Amino acid sequence: MLKVVILAAGAGTRMKSKIPKVLHKIIDKSMLDYVIDSAIEAGALEVCVVVGHMKDQVMAEVKHQVVFVEQDEQLGTGHAVMQAKSFIGTEGQTLILFGDTPMITGSTLKKMQAYHQKTNQTVTVLSTLVEDSSGYGRIVRDQDGEFMKSVEHKDASDDERAIKEINSGRYLFEAKALVDALVKITTDNTQGEYYLPDTLNVIMDACMKDDAMVTSDYQEILGINNKVQLAEAGKIIQTRINQKLMLSGVTITDPEHTYIGKDVTVDADAIILPGTTIVGLSHVSEDAIIGPNSYIDSSIIGEGTKINQSNVFNSKIGEHTTVGPYAYIRPNCTIGNHIKIGDFVEIKNAIIEDGSKVSHLTYIGDADVGKNVNFGCGTVVVNYDGVNKNRATIKDNAFIGCNTNLISPVVVEENAYTAAGSTISKNVPSYALGIARAKQINIDDWVKRKRN
Ligand code: UD1
Ligand code: CA
Repeated sequence: MLKVVILAAGAGTRMKSKIPKVLHKIIDKSMLDYVIDSAIEAGALEVCVVVGHMKDQVMAEVKHQVVFVEQDEQLGTGHAVMQAKSFIGTEGQTLILFGDTPMITGSTLKKMQAYHQKTNQTVTVLSTLVEDSSGYGRIVRDQDGEFMKSVEHKDASDDERAIKEINSGRYLFEAKALVDALVKITTDNTQGEYYLPDTLNVIMDACMKDDAMVTSDYQEILGINNKVQLAEAGKIIQTRINQKLMLSGVTITDPEHTYIGKDVTVDADAIILPGTTIVGLSHVSEDAIIGPNSYIDSSIIGEGTKINQSNVFNSKIGEHTTVGPYAYIRPNCTIGNHIKIGDFVEIKNAIIEDGSKVSHLTYIGDADVGKNVNFGCGTVVVNYDGVNKNRATIKDNAFIGCNTNLISPVVVEENAYTAAGSTISKNVPSYALGIARAKQINIDDWVKRKRN
């Protein structure tokens, strides 16, 4: 049974931000969410997050089901884990992760578990080799290469500081040994903190096995302390996500300038053009073409549909439909198949059924639009009377003339027309023409008189 404890109580002052460090986002998820995802991918049954600095904000933002424990004073990594003592219990294994290291992957954590099991360790620490090891805890080994201890930079001798193998801060412990060791560590060190790595010495002294497993991917180890590192981590995660999609058959013409969230799914043969961002629980189907410069959030895009230079939020768009350029699909729209949503069209909280066309300069808010409806240029659904939002219904095969205002609540029945320039406030019956505009009169020689 695997439990995971994620340390996230630190202040992160170098971020120079009012937002707690672990909540800073990479594409569309917080660093902490990436770490929790990896824990779950590694097979964690329960996850505990140790919170302290700005704990209310952190607890409010975590999306997964986790247990929170509080560390009121940050007295060190060992102290932080101590707060989770009753969560850890005495059965199975406990994995310790940091909330500010979002690049760790579930597959590396699984390798760590396999190593731990195979070599029968009491604790396995994940280590890696880096060129510049300063600041990190160093992994000290004996002449035979056997793990001896982990020593903090500030407590290390010059010889130890020359070591390039660093402690990543991630460990897999037998739960009981961890809990027993935690009560034995002290603050007798340069920083006066309870160091979690000191539990390794306690376990070693008790003649149980510890070892360090070296991972070659040092990027997975990197912690984020400032916004430069946040951007670097963003690039690494972006590359991982885009490469995975491309290898599964998605065409991404300029992966450097394409931002796709980890939870987005894209079918093979979809094409993602430059400057596009797709986030949330979005799905893009086969042969869809998204972009350039489109933003899609929590939306479903059907097969063969094109979204050109447009924004789509919390909506579902069917198959072989075209959207844009410069369209704005706001939340709660269901747009069907073979539909055209053209330039400068805004749609909100509306249903539009198959075959309809909204080609230019139109606002449709709070409306139910049937099949094969044609909206002329410059139509406005007047959904707000200053107090209430009302709904309009435009039924199958209706034709809405250019520059019509449809004052909701109103119904345009099947096969009805509205005349261009009409302000329609009464229902229009089936096959009727709704016309609501002043009759034209021409005043002869008006211009000549005006100029005199
Ligand atoms: C720690 C390790 C070091 C390792 C390095 C890898 C210790 C003593 N040192 O050092 O061996 O090489 O990570 O990055 O463990 N935290 C709390 N409560 C605390 C202290 C820390 O929740 O009281 C959290 C922080 O929010 C952070 C993580 O633990 O997410 C690491 O703490 P930090 O102080 O950055 O440890 P390092 O000095 O980097
Ligand atoms: Ca750190």
